Formats: sequence, structure tokens, C-alpha cells
Amino acid sequence: MSNRIIITTENGDEQIALNEIKKISPKPKNVSYLAKGITLVELDELYSDFIKKVNNYNLIFIRHIIPIITDAKLTYDNIIEQTLHIVNDNLCFLDKNLKFSIQTRIVNPHITLKPFDINTFISDKLIGSYEMDVKNPEQIISILVCTDTIYIGISLKKDNLSSWPGGNIRFEKKENFISRAEFKLLEAIQTFGLELKGNALDLGAAPGGWTKILSGYCNSVTAVDPAGLHESLYQSPNIIHKKMTAQEFFRSATGKYDVICNDMKMDTNESIDIMANAEKLLSKNNLCIMTLKLPASKQQSRATRSIETLEKYFNILHARKLFHNRNEVTVAFNKKN
Ligand SMILES: C[S@@+](CC[C@H](N)C(=O)[O-])C[C@H]1O[C@@H](n2cnc3c(N)ncnc32)[C@H](O)[C@@H]1O
Repeated sequence: MSNRIIITTENGDEQIALNEIKKISPKPKNVSYLAKGITLVELDELYSDFIKKVNNYNLIFIRHIIPIITDAKLTYDNIIEQTLHIVNDNLCFLDKNLKFSIQTRIVNPHITLKPFDINTFISDKLIGSYEMDVKNPEQIISILVCTDTIYIGISLKKDNLSSWPGGNIRFEKKENFISRAEFKLLEAIQTFGLELKGNALDLGAAPGGWTKILSGYCNSVTAVDPAGLHESLYQSPNIIHKKMTAQEFFRSATGKYDVICNDMKMDTNESIDIMANAEKLLSKNNLCIMTLKLPASKQQSRATRSIETLEKYFNILHARKLFHNRNEVTVAFNKKN
């Protein structure tokens, strides 16, 4: 197995991501930036040793990791056939007992092919010998087509950090779409595997994207925001709007909540203080989801410090700068027993 990995982050977070890798594997031998947010790292150890340690670290800024088993110079003659040959030469890495799918990313502006073309061509050739499951694969063949090189990785889906190519998760804009913010909550639910139920409190709820999603999972949603919600939400029998600040709400709040969300546009320290205050309102089986708004120039230090502060009151379950986050990190946590 190789010692090279490709990590994906938001464009601009490459160095922060490298700092995170160095905490796990202190001496990377080579680092190359392949495209915006895509970094190739040659580790000083085998991928198999590296990946065993990853779960012990909170990777916040890395969205996706794949091991590289091989690469080849792009010939441009017939990219699909060339990729098939490389994959065929490395099928010894594909486990016959695990369902697979193929994920292709093309970051070469001169190539008009679509990832789908490569995925379908290669999977059609493999289907007789291997079981494909696009929705719920256990192992992924990752193909990255760069300016002059094709990289191939084969890994367990659970080790990739995200089941989407590069962690770039996409949601359909449905008819009842309210705000882009709803994609952040949908992504957190899917990426972290969160279960939402019971009574929810949504702090900083307007215009109501999160409230709408929460109302689909939970019995009731108390939406707190001095600003108004989208008009469609006032028809919903399980949504109550408290038109006030979170600080005002907590002065007289008494109920218990199973889920507390906080997407308030506010300084992180102040927002964490509000969550610490909300802790007493959490039921026994509880879940909190919060976005930490970060200053652009101090994202890593502020995120680390904020999570350390949250840890005084809560168990941190997940923390990640998700694909739909902008200068913020989404954290999921629950009350300490
Ligand atoms: C990013 S928006 C929230 C978007 C929302 N999650 C959605 O899905 O539509 C931030 C919200 O925080 C609210 N906010 C800021 N300070 C607040 C406070 N002290 N108490 C309650 N809400 C606050 C703002 O009014 C704004 O509506």
C-alpha cells in the first residue's frame, strides 16, 4: 500500500489542513498542491498505518481523504480507456466481498468529459466481477484527473471522511427552499449521521431553513429570532416563533429540549456562552448542532479554542468545516452526564 494521500479542503485552507495532517503524521516528505483545495501529501509512513490513527484526531478542516495507489501521465488520446487500463492494473486492491462505487473528479479545464462518463464506462466493465452499489458502497474507486496526471485511489468509504467525491455534497433546491443555510444542516445530518427527534429549539432561526428541516424530524420546533420567518412556516402546526433574541428567550425559558440548534450570526465566544446557558434546558437524550463563525484570518486557532471551551460543558461528537460552511465550522455535541 502506498504512502501518498490526497486531501480536499475549501480553497485557501490547504495549509491549515496540512497542519492537521502533521498532528497525525509529523513529517510529510513531499507536499504538492494539485488544484484549488486539493493537496497531495507523501507521508513518512504507510497509508494503512496513518488511517488507523485518524479517528483519534478531530480533523476539522479536511473534508475528504483518499490514498493514492497509482498515478499516470495523462495522454489525452483516450482518457476513458487510459483510466480503465490503470484501474484494471490495480484491481488487486478492490475487495471482491465489498460493494463498490466509482467517484471521479476532473480538475482539468481542457477536458470536456464529465465524471459520469468515466464512472459509467468503468463500472460497466467491472459489474460482472464486482458488486456495484452507487447509493451505499463500502469501498470507493476514486479517480482524480488533473492537468497532466490521473490519480487512482481505492479505499473504504468510511475512511474517506465523506461519501461524496472530495466531500463536495450537493442537494437539490426543492420547491419549498427557504435559504442556503438549510444545506448546512442537511450536510451535518448526513455527514455526521445525526438522529433528530423530540422537541427542538432553533436559535437564530430566521429566515427559517433549519427550522423547516427540524420540523420534518421533530415533534415541535421553537424558532427564536428577532427577525421574521419565511411566511410558509407560520402555517406549520409544529413551529412556534419567539420573535426575540436568544438572550431574551433564556430569561424566562423553562421547557426541555431534545435538540438545540444555534446558527446565530454572532461572535463565537458570545454564542458559546449562550449554549452553556442553554445546557440546563437539554433533555437526557439530547443533541446540539452549532455553527462557529470564524474570523477569516484566524480560523484554525479560533476553531480549536472554541471547541476546547465547548468541551468544558459538552461532549463533542463531530466538528468539521463542511462543504456548505463559509468561514464557519459546524459542531455537533451533547450534554455531559
Ligand atoms: C445565518 S442566519 C440563520 C439562518 C437560519 N439558520 C436559516 O436556516 O435560515 C443568522 C440569524 O441569527 C440571528 N441572530 C443574531 N443574533 C441573535 C440573537 N442574539 N438571538 C437570536 N437570533 C440572533 C439573525 O437575526 C439571523 O437571522
